[in-house]
Amino acid sequence: MNALTALTNHQIRLASRPVGLPTRDNWKFTTEPVTEPGPGGVLVKTLYLSLDPAMRGWMNEGKSYIAPVEIDAVMRAGGVGRVVASQNPAFAVGDHVSGGLDVQEYCLIPEAQLKRSGLFKIDPSLGLTTWLNVLGMPGMTGYFGLLDVGQPKAGETVVVSGAAGAVGQTVGQIAKRKGCRVVGIAGGQAKCDWVVNELGFDACIDYKGGDVKAGLKAHCPNGIDVYFDNVGGEILDAVLTRITRGARIIICGAISQYNNTTPVKGPANYLSLLMNRARMEGIVVFDYADRYPQAIAEMAGYLKDGTLKSREDVVQGLENFPEALLKLFNGENFGKLALQVASE
Ligand SMILES: NC(=O)c1ccc[n+]([C@@H]2O[C@H](COP(=O)([O-])OP(=O)(O)OC[C@H]3O[C@@H](n4cnc5c(N)ncnc54)[C@H](OP(=O)(O)O)[C@@H]3O)[C@@H](O)[C@H]2O)c1
Repeated sequence: MNALTALTNHQIRLASRPVGLPTRDNWKFTTEPVTEPGPGGVLVKTLYLSLDPAMRGWMNEGKSYIAPVEIDAVMRAGGVGRVVASQNPAFAVGDHVSGGLDVQEYCLIPEAQLKRSGLFKIDPSLGLTTWLNVLGMPGMTGYFGLLDVGQPKAGETVVVSGAAGAVGQTVGQIAKRKGCRVVGIAGGQAKCDWVVNELGFDACIDYKGGDVKAGLKAHCPNGIDVYFDNVGGEILDAVLTRITRGARIIICGAISQYNNTTPVKGPANYLSLLMNRARMEGIVVFDYADRYPQAIAEMAGYLKDGTLKSREDVVQGLENFPEALLKLFNGENFGKLALQVASE
């Protein structure tokens, strides 16, 4: 037995489908031996996992943009790690990589599943967790959602909810680069202060501490040309009352609705779209996968020259996954939420 196959892989599997917020009972902790990759395969040691609001949707049965996680399957998750064994010439032992690693300590990726896992080499000098944030899936969502769907023009007003989160921080910083007036919406003064003082947003409305409609009136005197919606619910309704003619609303997510035990609440003020000849359009980031390399190269350049910031909130320990995930739904994460599973 070699050193690798003597190791145990700790995993977290979906035990049952939650009703409302997930609980520890929805998860099952399992172990299995680590195995060597076969021809063309790769074995990756997980260093950090990305915790995403979308995980809540993957736990549900039913039709979506991606198949649900099956009961008893290892929970789906993106992550960054280090190659510890490889039978594939594209990956060498020691390479840092990002891709679908799932909620486990070691991910064995057979050759046939390499494409689906999206595994690619990363430059660790930019920071490992940055690859789960502005250079990762949330960053790509913000980049393509804002630029392709939102099409902001210099001088326009862009509003983004979930402003201090992973997608929100990317959206606001790119919109500023495009010469827009940027107004965030976030929960709590600390998050609002950070996006204004550190990221350069023009203003931020604390939806937990004040009236969103009044805030939008004060900070968007010429109305809202682009709204990047991460939260749905009442905040979307408030924004709809202040959109301009021809406004674009990017439906990226609706985290306020993900744990509902009643049907999703749609926007009551949608007739504002009619009056304003405006549109709402959804985005699924995976549709842009063939353009990620171009966006990553551009954003990596901004990171290197110091004009783009990437803030992550890292929780320690695979065993803390069930509770860590909940931070997304009560707003406890400040920046992109990641789980550190191991150190180098
Ligand atoms: N369409 C796509 O392809 C795609 C890809 C990635 C992400 N998304 C979506 O983008 C959104 C943001 O994702 P993320 O990864 O960047 O997460 P995130 O913003 O880093 O974290 C979630 C944040 O949502 C806010 N939130 C939670 N419950 C809320 C509520 N009831 N009302 C208002 N805000 C609430 C909290 O911030 P506060 O403290 O500010 O409340 C929390 O920190 C999610 O809706 C996600 O599903 C979509």
